[in-house]
Amino acid sequence: MTFNPLQERGIPLDKQLRNWRELNVTPTDPDHADPYTRCRIITMNGIEVEAIMFSHHLARHCPDVELKQQLARVRYIEAQQQKAVNWLLPGLASVLETTLAYEQVAVDLTAWVARMEPDAYLKQAYEFGVLEDFDHLYRYANLYEMIEHRKAEKIVDQLTEVMPGRPTYLHHRNPVDNVREPYDRNSAAPISKLHALTIMSAEQQTMNFYMNVGPMYMEPIARQLYQEIGLIEEEHVTHYESLVDPGESWWEMLLNHEYNECYLYHSFMETESDPKVKNIWELHLNMELEHLRLAAELFKRHDGRDPEQVLAPELPAPVTFEPNKAYLRELISTQIDYTTLGTGYVQEAHERFEKMQEAIMGGEKAPSERVIDDNRARSGHEYRLQTDGEHPVHSLAYNR
Ligand SMILES: [Fe+2]
Ligand SMILES: [Fe+2]
Ligand SMILES: [Fe+2]
Ligand SMILES: [Fe+2]
Repeated sequence: MTFNPLQERGIPLDKQLRNWRELNVTPTDPDHADPYTRCRIITMNGIEVEAIMFSHHLARHCPDVELKQQLARVRYIEAQQQKAVNWLLPGLASVLETTLAYEQVAVDLTAWVARMEPDAYLKQAYEFGVLEDFDHLYRYANLYEMIEHRKAEKIVDQLTEVMPGRPTYLHHRNPVDNVREPYDRNSAAPISKLHALTIMSAEQQTMNFYMNVGPMYMEPIARQLYQEIGLIEEEHVTHYESLVDPGESWWEMLLNHEYNECYLYHSFMETESDPKVKNIWELHLNMELEHLRLAAELFKRHDGRDPEQVLAPELPAPVTFEPNKAYLRELISTQIDYTTLGTGYVQEAHERFEKMQEAIMGGEKAPSERVIDDNRARSGHEYRLQTDGEHPVHSLAYNR
């Protein structure tokens, strides 16, 4: 069954506004919800936040008042969608529990995208990044056990393993080495453009989240760990956003954004286990079809091309949240010692990398290392969730 969003009719824009009652969505059940439902909610929140911020940036470059008014109308609906989506979260979760869920999204969404990405250079970018968020999950899980006395499996269930990836302290690279080469907008497969937008948006919301919630903790180790990982999420946003071809016109970018929203709502509608949440995905898909139609009109008028020239003829296979354990273990055993040099990857610590490491460590251990030592001291062990056996790298095997 093929679905071409350019051929489908959505809800007319003037019928999309919701009142307070309609916006007041029923949150998911904190004890019984599928962890991957929470992951889909977080992903779509990141996508809607990007839709809003992209539209603001476009408006700031747009001298035509009428155009600005149209952007404002659609953007207000995006803002309502963001509220409906993010308010599906049940409110009971602590900041650290939400953090664990954010890193679970980063792990299983990026791993899926890496598996599906047809372009070798882009695939490498996702494989590189996913091993870092995988390690963040392990560091935060230890902080969680230490300060909330709970285990991360309460959040991630048995779906995502928790153990060391590329050690977090080694993620601090010279910023110059975080910039990748972009895909070529004329030759890249449509799915590659969607992947890049999706992961960029997810990492951006994680960066924003840590920037805001980090100082809400009183425990010095928590404050420091959020600072450290917050800076790495800045590196990740730089890494992923540089994959997008900056030669796309504003209208082409708008078109890709709206198309990606259609793609993801459709994907999640197809794969959602919670019927109430599924209804929201379906409603929002029907709104996005109209956003896409409007963006297509603007693209034709201002870019002078047909949307069919740049978009996929039908939606690609749905983005799916599912365990990626074997894939991640394979990456850990082959790519754990990678770093970047210029726009490529190397396996040895080069001079620019070492200078950056020295400067930022200031002769001390990073918070991400101390959090493990501290938890071992306080809980008598470090936290791991190895459902599929011992760690694939011998030197990182768990010794009690
Ligand atoms: Fe949207
Ligand atoms: Fe992360
Ligand atoms: Fe990240
Ligand atoms: Fe939209």
